[in-house]
Amino acid sequence: MQLNLKTITAVLATLSLVSADDNSAIASPDSAVVKLTQDTFEQYIKSNPLVLAEFFAPWCGHCKRLGPEFSSAADKLAEKDIKLAQIDCTEERDLCADFGIRGYPTLKVFRGEGEPSDYQGQREANAIYNYMLKQASPPVTSTEDSAEILEVVSDAADPVIVQVLPSGVTKNNETFYDVANSLRDSYTFISTSNADYVKKYTKKSNPTYVLFRPEESADDASVYSGKEFDEEHLKEFIEVESKPLFGEINGYHYQVGQRI
Ligand SMILES: *[C@@H]1O[C@H](CO)[C@@H](O)[C@H](O)[C@H]1NC(C)=O
Repeated sequence: MQLNLKTITAVLATLSLVSADDNSAIASPDSAVVKLTQDTFEQYIKSNPLVLAEFFAPWCGHCKRLGPEFSSAADKLAEKDIKLAQIDCTEERDLCADFGIRGYPTLKVFRGEGEPSDYQGQREANAIYNYMLKQASPPVTSTEDSAEILEVVSDAADPVIVQVLPSGVTKNNETFYDVANSLRDSYTFISTSNADYVKKYTKKSNPTYVLFRPEESADDASVYSGKEFDEEHLKEFIEVESKPLFGEINGYHYQVGQRI
């Protein structure tokens, strides 16, 4: 078979036209994807509880492949009040610079005014759908059932942080939920007022946190002994105590948390 240059050029032109149509990086105006700009971004993020934002460039190949998957996920998630938005970084340079966008596409999960977190799922419609549904579920499992806590702890592949609240004590509760929201991709969070936990882990009606590391005995759990219940201390406790007990020990370990 002989192909002359003209035929090849025509075939290539058709192919690229077809793929440009099917795989556009820019969502069709008919889809549920919202296009955001410098002027609309802040207000939109503030007024929607959960937004997955795609920072992209129209020419980028990965963005073109993601385009139809993103639109299809957006259409399905619209019913769940989860919004998907696009920011064209070739038009919104300042906005993209504000978020330190270096590669395309970059996907970030926004919850109102807090810091966004990076999307860590696959770039495929179903995966996006499932990931965002999980993001919409409560970040903390609240339970008084010690058997349920043990089950979560033994099944978890990540460290599990349990907030133990003596009854009537709620002063650190909001902080715990905020931290759980921002770290939900890497840890599991539980809150309990179970009497056995309160007796075993708390002192003088103070709340506390207990961190269980995967594949370690529950007896080796770390118990927070600090007096501060702000976000910074809780995050530091989680980060430091999540390292395996018999892994690298660096002295700093012992100053922050107390093991029982
Ligand atoms: C802690 O805060 C969460 C979320 O706001 C709420 O649902 C829960 O009832 C609170 N728990 C306590 C013990 O106040």
